[in-house]
Amino acid sequence: MLLAGCGGGQDSLQPHSTQSNQIRWLWWGMLIVAGIVFFGAVGMLALAWLRKGDKGLPALGPREGLTNGLVVVFGIVVPVVVLVALFIVANLVVIKTTQAPAKGSTQMSIDVTGKQWFWVVSYDGTPAVTANEIHIPVRTRVRINVRSGDVIHSFWVPELNRKIDTINGQTNSELLYASRPGRYRGQCAEFCGLQHAHMGMVVVAEPMARFRAWLANMAKPAPAPAGGAAAQGQRLFMANQCASCHQIRGTQAQGQIGPDLTHLASRSTLAALTIANTPRELAAWIANPQAIKPGNKMPDLGLSRSQIAAIVSYLEGLK
Ligand code: CUA
Repeated sequence: MLLAGCGGGQDSLQPHSTQSNQIRWLWWGMLIVAGIVFFGAVGMLALAWLRKGDKGLPALGPREGLTNGLVVVFGIVVPVVVLVALFIVANLVVIKTTQAPAKGSTQMSIDVTGKQWFWVVSYDGTPAVTANEIHIPVRTRVRINVRSGDVIHSFWVPELNRKIDTINGQTNSELLYASRPGRYRGQCAEFCGLQHAHMGMVVVAEPMARFRAWLANMAKPAPAPAGGAAAQGQRLFMANQCASCHQIRGTQAQGQIGPDLTHLASRSTLAALTIANTPRELAAWIANPQAIKPGNKMPDLGLSRSQIAAIVSYLEGLK
């Protein structure tokens, strides 16, 4: 179980932003100070235990002053100094750096809504809506506004900033900033039901030009199906329950229960990073979503293999 914490590419001790860097140093500082205090206390306890049979010392006298002095220094002075210092560093430095930027003070803001068990991502001032994969321009301050669509979740991308809870009826904000291009994995950090562990997200930080091109594509309605199988897939999608749960902008599918699928094929994963977005995995997901993510809201519609293949060919064309 200890080793499980070492993998996964989600490491707050490998920061890629000023914010995470400060969190790392605060963590190391607290670990070192707490380590010194702990081992110091254990050492003194051990010394007292080893010398408990020492009858040669006078019960009272000059040593009493020394004993009282030790109690004052290690029982009052040291804890007060250590706690005040950590309080100052944590509250006046780290919290200030990592807190949400003021509204309107960043170039961009993104709305993220946590739902059981995926993330809805929409870009302020554009019709772009996507899920689980959040693109941001690199070296740009972005304000993230988080909300909840059901229960309490927590938005956390350890390599970029601290966590922020999503609470129903309330909007919380935080800063996202990546100092280098890359993919930064994040995770829901508040237990939110059966598939809490499968509520991942990824922040993709990329150069501004690439980001703009991505966003322009996301803002467009879905492309028309290319080819017979895809067109048949679209008809099946609209005729079945799919369309009442999912939105595909530019079609009559306007459901808001599941993730927006307008540009599904441009995402690299499905089901909040649970499986890869390949035709095979997508077909397996449609055939039996409850086997892959038990408890999620998507039912098995009992479609035939050829119907699923047609729907997959339609969805895989939604670039
Ligand atoms: Cu959402 Cu845990």
